Amino acid sequence: MLSYQHGYHAGNHADVLKHSILTLILTRLTQKDRPLTYMDSHAGAGLYHLEGDQARKTGEADSGILKLLGLNDAPNQLVPYLSLCKRYHTDGAWYPGSPTIAAELTRPGDDLILMELHPAEHTQLKGALDSDPRAHVHHRDGFQGLVALSPPVHRRGLVLMDPSYETDEDYQNVAKAASALMRRWPEAVVAVWYPLVSRRKNATETLKKKVAECGKGETLCAELCPAGISDNEWGLYGSGMLIVNPPWKLEDDIAECIPWLTCALADDSRGTSDYGRLVSQEAEGGC
Ligand SMILES: C[S@@+](CC[C@H](N)C(=O)[O-])C[C@H]1O[C@@H](n2cnc3c(N)ncnc32)[C@H](O)[C@@H]1O
Repeated sequence: MLSYQHGYHAGNHADVLKHSILTLILTRLTQKDRPLTYMDSHAGAGLYHLEGDQARKTGEADSGILKLLGLNDAPNQLVPYLSLCKRYHTDGAWYPGSPTIAAELTRPGDDLILMELHPAEHTQLKGALDSDPRAHVHHRDGFQGLVALSPPVHRRGLVLMDPSYETDEDYQNVAKAASALMRRWPEAVVAVWYPLVSRRKNATETLKKKVAECGKGETLCAELCPAGISDNEWGLYGSGMLIVNPPWKLEDDIAECIPWLTCALADDSRGTSDYGRLVSQEAEGGC
C-alpha cells in the first residue's frame, strides 16, 4: 500500500524535529575529514512546494517551519537547518526534504544512497538530485535495500529510516531492518523517526526498545509534542527520533536545541518535549 504522500505534511512540526536532528548529526559527522555515506531508506520526493496544492490543503507547514523562519534567537546549532530552509523558501516557497538536506550538508567526496518505492515520488526525487553525481537514487523497498547495500564503501556514515507508518508492519519492519543493518554495518549512526499517536502507544514503546537493543552503545531519543500529549486515538500529536551510535556531543546539541524548538512550535503553552539517553535513562528528561 503506497497511499502516503509526504507533500501533504512537508515542513510540519514532525519534519522540523526530524530535519533539525538530521542537520545536527550531519554537522557533527562532517567535522572529521574522512568521507561518509548518507543512506535514506524512505527518501520521499526530495523537495516540496509549500504553495502547492498538497501543502496548502493541510496547511501543516504554517504551524511548523513557517513559524520559525522569522525568529532570530535560535541556538547556533540550528542555524544551518534554518538558513537552508530560509534559502529554499525565499527561492520559490520550497521546503527541502531529507535527501536535499543531506546533499546540501555533505561534501564532494561523500556518498548519498537514496531509496524510494512510490513511483511518482521516486521520479521527483531523481529530478531533484539529477545534477548531483554523488546521489545514487534507487526505486526499491528501503527496508530491504538498506541491508542489501550495507556496508557501503565509506563506513563512516548515517542511515535515516523514515517510513510513513501507514501500517502496523512498519513498526516491526523498522526494528527488523535496524537489527539486520547493525549486524552488517555496526559503526553506522542510525536515526529512526517515529510518530506519536495514542492508539499506537504499545507499538511505539516496543519499537524504541528494539531499536535501542540493536546498538552496541548508547541510544539517544528526542520527542516533541507542540500541543502536549493527547488521548485522541487518531491524531499525530507529536513525534520522536531515536539515534543509535550518536556522534560525540550530539546529546549536548539536542539538549540545547529541543527546548527552543518546543517553545517556538508550541501551541499556547502546552508544548512538551522529552530527550536523553534511552537505555540508561541517565539524562534528565530521558524519553
Ligand atoms: C515520511 S516520507 C519520507 C520523507 C523524507 N524522508 C523526508 O524527510 O523528506 C516516507 C516515504 O516512504 C515511501 N515508502 C513507503 N514504503 C516504502 C518502502 N517500503 N521503501 C521505500 N520507500 C517507501 C513513501 O512513498 C514516502 O515517500
